[in-house]
Amino acid sequence: MSTISVIAAVDKHNGIGKKQQLLWNLPFDMKRFKNATTGHAVVMGRRTFESLPKGALPNRKNIVLTTMPPESFIDVFVCNSLPDAFDLCEHEDEVFIIGGAMVYKAAMKIADKLYLTRVHYIFEDADIFFPKINFDEWEEVEHEDHPADDLHAYAYTFHTYIRKR
Ligand SMILES: NC(=O)c1ccc[n+]([C@@H]2O[C@H](COP(=O)([O-])OP(=O)(O)OC[C@H]3O[C@@H](n4cnc5c(N)ncnc54)[C@H](OP(=O)(O)O)[C@@H]3O)[C@@H](O)[C@H]2O)c1
Repeated sequence: MSTISVIAAVDKHNGIGKKQQLLWNLPFDMKRFKNATTGHAVVMGRRTFESLPKGALPNRKNIVLTTMPPESFIDVFVCNSLPDAFDLCEHEDEVFIIGGAMVYKAAMKIADKLYLTRVHYIFEDADIFFPKINFDEWEEVEHEDHPADDLHAYAYTFHTYIRKR
């Protein structure tokens, strides 16, 4: 069975987006995302897929969850449930759930690993949120602080957690 990993970046109030876009531009976080997910399967909701500037993410097996007909999508696998998406990943060692809120909510009940970037700022205009995390269920295994700099308007921390068993 694959490791099911959730990867997300949240603000201090768990905000993850506004108007179907991200709230920030943090290149080093994008790099972390790319390094973690390249070569693996990524599962996302239809709205997150539509928000990707260049469509399917290269060098990854892209799986989009939707109730729409699969013919509407190119370069991606299409599923209408999370279990169906996992069936497509039986030979993958790690499957990344990459959002958005609706998919995170379902996946957090079953995920084994959580890659969480905390952005140290409150975005008052956020209109979509990561579900509340019960940290009693998770053990932190990595933690890396980054200050704001010329390329990053906000300080942020990379955390990695594994589910306590
Ligand atoms: N900060 C971050 O780390 C991060 C990461 C990803 C996304 N985001 C942000 O999150 C926002 C998008 O999130 P969202 O919650 O609005 O949308 P979403 O979860 O990306 O997509 C929702 C859609 O996915 C489909 N879907 C979801 N669960 C399904 C299921 N179990 N079975 C079948 N279809 C399912 C449905 O599509 P149909 O309506 O087609 O049936 C649903 O309307 C954007 O602002 C994006 O930028 C942020």
